Amino acid sequence: QLPTLTNSLPKLNQYDVILVGGPVWNGNVAAPVIEFLRNIQEYQGLIAPFSTAWSDSDHYQANFVNWAGRLQVADGFHITTHGSHQFKANNLAAWLRKL
Ligand SMILES: Cc1cc2nc3c(=O)[nH]c(=O)nc-3n(C[C@H](O)[C@H](O)[C@H](O)COP(=O)(O)O)c2cc1C
Repeated sequence: QLPTLTNSLPKLNQYDVILVGGPVWNGNVAAPVIEFLRNIQEYQGLIAPFSTAWSDSDHYQANFVNWAGRLQVADGFHITTHGSHQFKANNLAAWLRKL
């Protein structure tokens, strides 16, 4: 059962790229983010996912693509506080440059 989103959305097609961030929950996309992706299926631009996790986000990107449906999804930026993908400013800058 997904939560109802309470914020209203702007007209999304005015944006070329939308960054969609969220926490990793049980290795996967968090429920409010899933509901957000379900709400924006008409968006024509690029979705760039990023996530935070404690230790493991290895399946997050594939799970995100699955929930994204018809949306176009870029390779995301995924960091862990205790795992092998710790935050590095250079990596973030390189990811942003590729978008
Ligand atoms: C319900 C729930 C499930 C979570 N599952 C995972 C998980 O599978 N892997 C992981 O590395 N972190 C997991 N976390 C940690 C969150 O990703 C983390 O809380 C989030 O990135 C925010 O970071 P913070 O708690 O340091 O503020 C989980 C957190 C919650 C509340």
